[in-house]
Amino acid sequence: MANDAFAVSDARPSAVSNGALADPFSPPADSSLWRKNFLLGAATASYQIEGAVNEDGRLPSIWDTFSAKPGKVLAGETGAVACDHYHRWEADIELLASLGLEGYRLSIAWPRVMDAAGLPNRKGLDFYKRLLNRLKEKGITTSVTLYHWDLPQHLEDRGGWLNRDTAYRFADYADLMSRELAGTVDAWATLNEPWCSAYLGYGNGHHAPGLADGRFATQAMHHLLLAHGLAIPVLRANDPASQKGIVANIGRGTANSDSAADQRAAHLFEVQHNAWILDPLLKGAYPQDLFELWPGTEPLVLDGDMQTISAPLDFLGINYYFRTNVASDGAHGFRDVPLEGVERTQMGWEVHPDGLRDLLIGFNRTYRNLPPIYITENGMASDDKVIDGHVDDTQRISFLKRHLAAVDQAIKAGVDIRGYFLWSLMDNFEWAFGYERRFGVVHVDYSTQKRTVKRSAELVAKFLKERRAQA
Ligand code: FCB
Repeated sequence: MANDAFAVSDARPSAVSNGALADPFSPPADSSLWRKNFLLGAATASYQIEGAVNEDGRLPSIWDTFSAKPGKVLAGETGAVACDHYHRWEADIELLASLGLEGYRLSIAWPRVMDAAGLPNRKGLDFYKRLLNRLKEKGITTSVTLYHWDLPQHLEDRGGWLNRDTAYRFADYADLMSRELAGTVDAWATLNEPWCSAYLGYGNGHHAPGLADGRFATQAMHHLLLAHGLAIPVLRANDPASQKGIVANIGRGTANSDSAADQRAAHLFEVQHNAWILDPLLKGAYPQDLFELWPGTEPLVLDGDMQTISAPLDFLGINYYFRTNVASDGAHGFRDVPLEGVERTQMGWEVHPDGLRDLLIGFNRTYRNLPPIYITENGMASDDKVIDGHVDDTQRISFLKRHLAAVDQAIKAGVDIRGYFLWSLMDNFEWAFGYERRFGVVHVDYSTQKRTVKRSAELVAKFLKERRAQA
């Protein structure tokens, strides 16, 4: 990623801002977004776009297994074909470049690049080498996530993230990837959203591998964070020039009333969504309130683990989507109280940009060692249709504009935020919701694999073009 520190002086000169203000996306003239070293890119993930699940020696992942089970994914859909990106990657990179996007966040499919004995799968590796080399040729900043949920099934068969050994296997995988791909990766993120892997995968069963036990969730989280901590020094040794970090999803919880019980409920919501991950990473300890919420779920932690987990980071990736309004459940937890009359997306998620700003400012106060931030995902799903060759995704344009304004406000309040990746470059396999929920700034017709640039992408491209044209 662009590692240069922010130069406050290069905001866009206001004299040339008038035309740009006319469109529904363009940021105001004083926005930090006009700084050329604020990286603006798009993100995807391997299982959601690649398809080609049985090709070139790729092994099954937990998402192949999970999505094949009846009732787990809407309409029984799977990532078997997805956006067929494994075959169409060249055209997809052309598209990314044609939009002028400066950064691309992608993930590597672990089962594509390593066999069960831990040996490299050359064909799978070559796919990522070609892809990353092409991105570098195009001058695009590359942000690579090692684990965006597609655990090799053979590791799940041995306990997956409940087995401490998986953390060591992850470090081996990080070792191989950083030896093979060093020089083509600007930023390495170890994990995407360990909250989802641990809680949705092992705590409530909504995601692969589909297990549901609170004790499992905390132990899986510990092993995920340990995997991250073991991988960081390996990445540093093999690829010293790149940045190293992790990506966390964060949740805003607001209290349904001023009562102490509801305030406490909102606090516990944020402990469960944010502090559960950020405290071990940045303070070297789990938040004790988590075990008030979930009594008796303390994970088994060995000597030295917390030190490994809290190794310094070069950046923290933040994924933000919505807020949740909560009340006390009358015991030691919280319950959702959905607000009436608020704007929502196709996912039913409330549009609440202030939550992103407030969380970022709050983290900056809570964690003295908060690393530079990249917003590694933000975006929304809408039921987009191609009409006469165009997709007018009005709500997304407004959503992106408002969330980027929230990012700007956080920057102005002193948070060191260096970039923003749209989720997602294109419509894709949205996990348990299959293909119905469209998050892309590029539309995908899954019957023909035709890509159509949505209006939101056109406006982002227009903005980037104007930004590049500034002196
Ligand atoms: C995040 C995931 C990403 C995508 C978005 C909508 O939790 O990291 O893969 O599904 O949600």
